[in-house]
Amino acid sequence: MTQDDEAANEFPMSLELPSRPRRNRRTPAIRSMVRETQLEIGQLIYPLFLHADQEDTPIAAMPGQTRWSVKGLVKEVKRVSKLGIDKIVIFPKIDESLKTENGDEAMNPEGLIPEAIQRIKDACPDTCVITDIALDPYNSDGHDGIVSEEGEILNDITVAVLCEQALAHAAAGADIVAPSDMMDGRVGQIRAALDEDGYTDVSIMAYTAKYASAFYGPFRGALDSAPKANAYKPVPKDKRTYQMDPANVREALRELELDEAEGADIVMVKPAGPYLDVIRTLRENTTLPVAAYHVSGEYLMIKSAAAAGWLDERAAVLEMLLGIRRAGADVILTYFAPQVAEWLSDR
Ligand code: PBG
Repeated sequence: MTQDDEAANEFPMSLELPSRPRRNRRTPAIRSMVRETQLEIGQLIYPLFLHADQEDTPIAAMPGQTRWSVKGLVKEVKRVSKLGIDKIVIFPKIDESLKTENGDEAMNPEGLIPEAIQRIKDACPDTCVITDIALDPYNSDGHDGIVSEEGEILNDITVAVLCEQALAHAAAGADIVAPSDMMDGRVGQIRAALDEDGYTDVSIMAYTAKYASAFYGPFRGALDSAPKANAYKPVPKDKRTYQMDPANVREALRELELDEAEGADIVMVKPAGPYLDVIRTLRENTTLPVAAYHVSGEYLMIKSAAAAGWLDERAAVLEMLLGIRRAGADVILTYFAPQVAEWLSDR
């Protein structure tokens, strides 16, 4: 026996395999034919920050993101609309002097957000404007709800303020209001308030399963909206009495049932990456569109690793967002939206 024959005996040239999955991966053309999930520009929502100042200020904790002036914001919305990004959600940094225990400024029909909505709608009428409904940017205690003297987050009075906030945004021309506060019953109350005032066309994107997550850190820095200690009352340091426990998924179904019954048009899971199973669970249990929020900490993880040269930013972002789509999200809120739009159009 020659040396060659011996090798052939040990390693046969051809296995008799009835199925060879690699055939479906052989060329780009074949791979694109059998690809199960697509990531499209139309599925992205771009979150933007604004403040009342005249300057556009880079946000240190979120490299690549800016706290816009109203004027700068309008310019940015125009810029991204040319890339195909036509859905935005806006978050305000409110002047310290306007913050109160009851978050009154949230209800001001002439406040920063109503003004911004009008200016965006004037400049880009086709852009879908989504607003955040919650008190944390307006509340001197830094919570999404009103904090009592005893340090309790008061559900029902907060919901009344949230309804007024939603009405102020609807009156200014918001297309969708997105309650991110996690108070009980707020979706139904906001729906009723909108309908009663004739805003039956304004949609509700409910933060259905919003978890008490460490990944919101950079966002709270950007808005200066973290819970604040207070000498006069015991303000809770975290949001665990209203945001969900990261250990729970059945509880997300309970929230889903309520938000559906209360009239939500879109349901959301937040954060996205660490909660892919929750996205999948909601997808399998509702006919409503499911959104997922790729939050500030998830953004920063990729940004900082890429800046250090440790990750290929484009490849990592596209894979992460595709994974969120594969888990079952129809819509993704992501700070990477404009960049992704550019990447997707030069594939
Ligand atoms: C608060 C709100 C938060 C985010 C969106 N709305 C922070 C929080 O709940 O403390 C986080 C978004 C992000 O981290 O990107 N209503």
